Amino acid sequence: MKILVISSSLRLGSNSGLIAAEFARGAVESGNVVEEISLKGRQIGFCTGCLSCQETRRCCIADDSADIIRKMHDADVIVFASPIYFYGLSGQLKVLLDRSNPLYGTDYRFKDIYLILTAAEDEAATPDRAVSSLQGWVDCFDRSRIAKVIFAGGVNERNAASGHAAMKNAYETGKEIGER
Ligand SMILES: Cc1cc2nc3c(=O)[nH]c(=O)nc-3n(C[C@H](O)[C@H](O)[C@H](O)COP(=O)(O)O)c2cc1C
Repeated sequence: MKILVISSSLRLGSNSGLIAAEFARGAVESGNVVEEISLKGRQIGFCTGCLSCQETRRCCIADDSADIIRKMHDADVIVFASPIYFYGLSGQLKVLLDRSNPLYGTDYRFKDIYLILTAAEDEAATPDRAVSSLQGWVDCFDRSRIAKVIFAGGVNERNAASGHAAMKNAYETGKEIGER
């Protein structure tokens, strides 16, 4: 399987990035072709809502999103990793999802979508609104589904996720993909 892992946190020692790397490690070990992308350093502008992509299937804004969207189109599995910001997805991931509108109506490959989330709080409901936001995107790509959410709560400082149970969960989840 071709697996694309997209980490959206921009900070060094990113908790969601650490967990995403464990997912990737597991997926590589079971023989998948895995590509990890960070949004750090990428120029990705806001969607302007012109909707020209519905005719052309491409965005009229020339920036780094085109390359990522092409990779999303061709992946069997997409893993999104995001810190929770104000109970939602990070703005940078939301902007990428908005810019992926050129994929709408195309013959995209992806089916299973995984979501890795990290937050300072550790309540059962902490990830809900972020998951719901991604579900809205998934609902628009009706061959796809959220296969699993991996949530690490109670992590706030850099690298705080390193001993968290979500690391093992992510590794095993990545590993299982090639074993099914
Ligand atoms: C702008 C901002 C908003 C945040 N909002 C929340 C929040 O609503 N709930 C929460 O539990 N943690 C919140 N946090 C904490 C982060 O989710 C937490 O530090 C997370 O581990 C960061 O993941 P990262 O290291 O991958 O960036 C917020 C952090 C920032 C910078």
